[in-house]
Amino acid sequence: MPLEEIQDLQLDEKYLQPDTAEINGILMSKMISDNWDDIWNFQARPDDLLISTYAKAGTTWTQEIVDMIQNDGDVQKCQRANTFDRHPFIEWTLPPPLNSGLDLAKKMPPPRTLKTHLPVQLLPPSFWKENSKIIYVARNAKDCLVSYYHFSRMNRMVPDPGTWEEYIEKFKAGKVLWGSWYDHVKGWWDAKDRHRILYLFYEDMKEDPKREIKKILKFLEKDVPEEVLNKIIYHTSFDVMKQNPMANYTTLPTIIMDHSISPFMRKGRSEGGTLTCLYSCSNHGILPCFIFFLKNYFTVAQNEEFDKDYEKKMAGSTLTFRTEI
Ligand code: A3P
Repeated sequence: MPLEEIQDLQLDEKYLQPDTAEINGILMSKMISDNWDDIWNFQARPDDLLISTYAKAGTTWTQEIVDMIQNDGDVQKCQRANTFDRHPFIEWTLPPPLNSGLDLAKKMPPPRTLKTHLPVQLLPPSFWKENSKIIYVARNAKDCLVSYYHFSRMNRMVPDPGTWEEYIEKFKAGKVLWGSWYDHVKGWWDAKDRHRILYLFYEDMKEDPKREIKKILKFLEKDVPEEVLNKIIYHTSFDVMKQNPMANYTTLPTIIMDHSISPFMRKGRSEGGTLTCLYSCSNHGILPCFIFFLKNYFTVAQNEEFDKDYEKKMAGSTLTFRTEI
């Protein structure tokens, strides 16, 4: 869609902070659930590449890396369109004149690179049947939660997050769009041994982008000269992507995303659980008391509760995360 048209877009209020509905117990926006039959029956192709993630796990970053690989490091080619028009987001259903993921995907000549946040059990079965390649990227729960909270404040196409305290509870209970983080990362982890899935971690990408990009190259059966590899690393670094309007979502009108509330490219870090901020307050003016906050907004009490709940939900899985690099 041309940039001027996007900027002038007027959207009916019903599309903003949309109603939600469940599909097999997974919370989705009503626009997705109303269109579910078409999404479920989506026809994948053997040469499709699907980038799958839980929301806020580094999808856009991975999309940019993949696009740079597919275009042999040609930055101009990667700036041909917005991320969301380059790689159809298959379940994302939008009102005209915006492009819904399915429509875009159907119009796109193969080989296509597609995006999804669907939990593994809701992936259209044609992806399994056609044996399409899938890159799954996972990010640790706390950083996903914090990022998702801020994203939900600035993006009016997802439900209002409520307060931070409310949002932590919603996240733990999986009552956010695309459902439980815990089930999502575990579900795809279990699927990776049965299908052509490259399972990557955001934290590994932060730690050593070169190593992780090489994994993607191998998975895509591509080879690029060292100088192109270095160009890809540079162009897909947080600082460079933050300035790239074709990758940072700033071309959307503020009625959809308001970057003054919180930028889409917010911090791009793994903040885990380090204690960084000491806040002192007066306890009824008598004794000063101290509240420790973690770098990522959790109070110590919230952090402890979160960790306890996390242990229960992740028990029995071989999947482990690093929270800091
Ligand atoms: P933060 O909100 O923690 O900054 P998604 O694309 O899945 O919506 O994920 C968005 C998150 O990935 C945001 O996290 C964003 O800043 C981060 N991100 C995007 N591009 C990145 C990059 N090149 N390097 C590191 N993080 C990046």
